[in-house]
Amino acid sequence: MAQRFNMSIVSSAPIGIFDSGIGGLTVARAVKTVLPQEQIIYFGDTAHLPYGDKSTAAIQAYSIKITQLLLDKGCKLILIACNSASAAGYELVKEYVGNKAKVLNVIDPVVDYLREQYPGKTVGLIGTKQTVNSEVYLEKVKALNQNINLQSLATPLLVPLIEEGFCQGEIAERIIAKYLSDPRLQALQAIILGCTHYPLIKTAIQSFYDSKVEVIDSSEIVAQALNSYLGYNNLYRKSPAQPDYFMVSDFTASFESSTKQFFGESIHLELIHLEG
Ligand code: DGL
Repeated sequence: MAQRFNMSIVSSAPIGIFDSGIGGLTVARAVKTVLPQEQIIYFGDTAHLPYGDKSTAAIQAYSIKITQLLLDKGCKLILIACNSASAAGYELVKEYVGNKAKVLNVIDPVVDYLREQYPGKTVGLIGTKQTVNSEVYLEKVKALNQNINLQSLATPLLVPLIEEGFCQGEIAERIIAKYLSDPRLQALQAIILGCTHYPLIKTAIQSFYDSKVEVIDSSEIVAQALNSYLGYNNLYRKSPAQPDYFMVSDFTASFESSTKQFFGESIHLELIHLEG
């Protein structure tokens, strides 16, 4: 059972969400769908994108700077929307934040879901090199002692593919088929979309499996976990909704025009340079 806060956290405070870029807007969108009354402050570290190919130390350093910025904005909770940053930086960020706010990542809710739904089964994981090579999912799944056979594969071509708008059609289908035909990803009962961008190719992945394998969209599971967490800790915002706020560490018109793809509506991005 999750630990309740024993300190006063203001329920009307915003939820901070961060990612390496605008891909984490898929998570922000899922959160907004489940919790429309909550105010979101989003930070996309577009200056350092992609995190998936960066070292653990670099991702940790960026994550701490962003966390401080979100704490300065008074966030009651920080959600690390990026799988790569969740794998590389969650423990450090949690320690850094201490009891100033709660920190959630996008990996633990999915691991909890596997414990409930997939004991004794074979489950695949696709994500960036950082997420897969860190073996964080593997360790957490092993610690469940539920005899879940997790098979992972880094699929680094998928992020640029999606960012270039190839979410369906022949090119997307061929690259997806090439990855999912890998011997490591056979005889699966489910596959985890372990990256912010992959919800955009969920339909193509479902088609590859002819809907016979559950495609686990971590953004939806994370939003549900956040909802339960806020409810359990009596942290739902009760005052009227405030506008959400979206920041990036490097601005281009192309980032802003891509927001619709990830968030479902166009949003304005504010340029904020990270200190240091
Ligand atoms: N946000 C990253 C993740 O979920 C994908 C993009 C990147 O590599 O920065 O792992």
